[in-house]
Amino acid sequence: MPSRITEGDLALLAFAREVQSRAYVPYSSFRVGAAVFAGGEIFQGVNVENAAYGSTLCAERAAAMAAVTAGHTDFDAIAVIGDSDAPCVPCGACRQFLAEFNPAMRVIMSGKTDAVEVLRLDELLPEPFVRGYLDQDTGENEE
Ligand code: THU
Repeated sequence: MPSRITEGDLALLAFAREVQSRAYVPYSSFRVGAAVFAGGEIFQGVNVENAAYGSTLCAERAAAMAAVTAGHTDFDAIAVIGDSDAPCVPCGACRQFLAEFNPAMRVIMSGKTDAVEVLRLDELLPEPFVRGYLDQDTGENEE
């Protein structure tokens, strides 16, 4: 279910938009900006590409890294803005990465137009692999 868009959503999106132009995108020219809201603070990130294409880092993970580096692991929301016509969704790897820090966080998405979509992360990734799976006793280490 798409959520109602709040003032806070739009404020966070403005922080994502603020950094979008700083994306380092010599290969795709597709600029993405992201902003995480965690612990009452904002952490921004952009996509950073690399000549070894697979070493590219998405904006969402860059923002998440900044938040964790500052000591915040409880995320309330992330805003993402990309150069797409439709609101830019986080890629699959970013959905999994973000689920570590709150599978129910709000995800605010936008693109080149004024359209804004808001979903919960667990709507974008219904069955994340989370730490609970690692805690389960598989019996593999028993004598
Ligand atoms: N990209 C992101 O930064 N986030 C996404 O959710 C989708 C893709 C970046 C990676 C690459 O630099 C460019 O967009 C094209 O895939």
